Amino acid sequence: MKKYRLIVVTCFVIAGLSVNAQTGRDAKMNSYIKALMSRMTLEEKIGQLNLPTVGFDITGPVLSKDVEQKIEKGLVGGLFNTFTPDAIRKQQDIAIKKTRLKIPLLFGYDVIHGHKTIFPIPLGLSATWDLPLIERTARAAAEEASADGLNWVFSPMVDIARDPRWGRVAEGAGEDTWLGSQVAKAMVQGYQNNDLSKNNTVMACVKHFALYGAAEAGRDYNIVDMSERKMLEYYLPPYKAAIDAGAGSVMSSFNEINGVPAAANKWLLTDLLRTKWGFTGMVATDYTAIMELMNHGVGDEPMVAELAIKAGDDMDMVSEFYINQLKKLVESKRVDVSYIDQACRRILEAKYKLGLFDDPYRGISNDRAAKEIMSADKLVLAKEAALKSMVLLKNENNILPLSSTAKIAFIGPMIKDQRDLIGNWSGAGDWKKAQSLWDALQTQYPTNNFMYAKGAKVIDDTLLLNKLNRFGANILPETLSPAQMIDEAVAAAGKADVVVAFLGESCTMTGEASSRSDLSIPEGQKALLKAIKATGKPIILLLMNGRPLTLAWENENVNAILETWFGGTCGGDAIADVLFGKYNPSGKLTMTFPRNVGQIPIYYNAKNTGRPFSENEKFTSKYLDVPNTPLYPFGYGLSYTTFSYSPITLNKTMINASDKLEATITLTNTGKFDGEETAQLYIRDVIGSVTRPVKELKGFQKVFLKPGESKSITFTLTANDLKFYDINMKYTYEPGAFKLFIGTNSTNVKEADFKLTL
Ligand code: BGC
Repeated sequence: MKKYRLIVVTCFVIAGLSVNAQTGRDAKMNSYIKALMSRMTLEEKIGQLNLPTVGFDITGPVLSKDVEQKIEKGLVGGLFNTFTPDAIRKQQDIAIKKTRLKIPLLFGYDVIHGHKTIFPIPLGLSATWDLPLIERTARAAAEEASADGLNWVFSPMVDIARDPRWGRVAEGAGEDTWLGSQVAKAMVQGYQNNDLSKNNTVMACVKHFALYGAAEAGRDYNIVDMSERKMLEYYLPPYKAAIDAGAGSVMSSFNEINGVPAAANKWLLTDLLRTKWGFTGMVATDYTAIMELMNHGVGDEPMVAELAIKAGDDMDMVSEFYINQLKKLVESKRVDVSYIDQACRRILEAKYKLGLFDDPYRGISNDRAAKEIMSADKLVLAKEAALKSMVLLKNENNILPLSSTAKIAFIGPMIKDQRDLIGNWSGAGDWKKAQSLWDALQTQYPTNNFMYAKGAKVIDDTLLLNKLNRFGANILPETLSPAQMIDEAVAAAGKADVVVAFLGESCTMTGEASSRSDLSIPEGQKALLKAIKATGKPIILLLMNGRPLTLAWENENVNAILETWFGGTCGGDAIADVLFGKYNPSGKLTMTFPRNVGQIPIYYNAKNTGRPFSENEKFTSKYLDVPNTPLYPFGYGLSYTTFSYSPITLNKTMINASDKLEATITLTNTGKFDGEETAQLYIRDVIGSVTRPVKELKGFQKVFLKPGESKSITFTLTANDLKFYDINMKYTYEPGAFKLFIGTNSTNVKEADFKLTL
């Protein structure tokens, strides 16, 4: 008892000390910033709110002009789209040596899935269901980015998305709120490592606040109209999770929410974000979002600047409406100076926390950059991430893994493709450093006689091709006609025992402004696949893409399908390992794959209807021409081995609000390979004061098993895991019956029942 008391007292003392230390640090920061701001003119304060772009990678009109002169005049608070120690030093020098108050600049960039060492796209990373791994990728990205002079990354993107037409699903963690929240937290931790003052951390920017992933019809930048219940329950928690993990900044989004654009939305940026959630960091707008408020139709230039500052946007990305309008708005008394003080203070606080007032250069040097960037350990991590991200969608008669001595024809535009491999938003990444699948094969199997034919261009459709090429896709003309390319491929297939076809989307077909209304593999490639099919040779289909595709024909007609996403710098090497069984795939989908576009939006945690589908009745909820079920459900992914799940045992079938429910199953590797399984836990609240989804993910465990090996795994749930917004919008649990499911994906599960009493 004494010992226990001592521990408790010690904990209080330690907690007290750290609270005191924090308060002390805050007091020091506050007095530093207060003193600094007392010396600033109104123009200088407004200057801090300006975030122009220099360099490349722009995602809108090029408006930032004379940036260096503006820095010198104190009209810039931060820059983005530039990096390398030399470039950063040059710009920071202007701020430090030539401005009156020597306030250092923030340097931001879209470090989305790695900086120079490129990891799989975020959707692929989420398919690893490996949170420590995801955190390590963010940590590695922070080490590289900070060594390259950056102190701020525009990541994580935590927008929940249920519509794969939206090209930006590639940038997020998929459709599930619970998993998305865990990923959001892991990424913030990786970037910030709990101490922004360290030179090897970067400030995270949670985006796009908010609900950007719900753009109507999956068309980018489109409006969002959503009930408060849906927001609170499904779309907002990942932003909150990232903020609770300490994210230093938030980016307001392009879309409107129920008639009010996010960048002008005081309810969103102040009432919810600050008052309710207690966020104390800074908010930057998205690219030219303040200017775009005019297109949304909420005001002219002065009006939208006023709306934005009053709503809670601290930093104006690229529009320059703040530096052009705010002073006049203050002078004419339309905007109180306190709004500017508040935004300026938040930006200066971010700089302070990053240690920029102590060392504006954060210890950058070319030596440090050379040591950190693409270091051996980061490349090993990139391969690990690529291996774990791949999802095996089909494997008829265990055709995979292949024997490397088989006669294999490698066919398709992705086989030798390096550019697409590193995916979208890989701005600082050098695709020439990515190893294509073909290069990996030559390295790993130098004496094998693999055959190759390109077979098709990624895109044949001239209209689409021109559109993509205009914006940098660089899909080059071929000397052979499409028919000749197919002939060549068919000839190669004819000589092979098996064909490995590598098809999909070019990286520019995904990401921002890349919504698609047709989610099939592009036509020319599909014609190629059909021609190969006609040869009668077995086909392994590898997919490179950034969103769920519609693969009904492929699922019927090829023997195996492996989803490889855009695998990053080491993607090619990783695919070769999976093909020949050096690694047994373990990824699981984090977005539902529909059978056709008409099913969208389709997601696993849907609600029941009053007329659930029934085969033998006409008037039930269904389509006439396609089943209700997806092609591949959320959580789905095969392995070269097989796993069996025992029935669930519960420690009790009735719990009260303070009990712990333990659900245990035994998982057995019943196949022939070592393998890793992600066992998933779902619940269903059977009766609620408002309707509840048919399943909700509440946990998962990754388990590695040798053939024949079994492990017992236990999930623990408490009443807190059963909470939702009740009929009165109170976040609470309701007593009654629940179902609990554990299984290999969201549809193939074991089931048990329990009750919650109060
Ligand atoms: C995107 C953001 C990005 C910003 C800066 C915008 O177009 O929506 O995700 O961070 O550009 O590059």
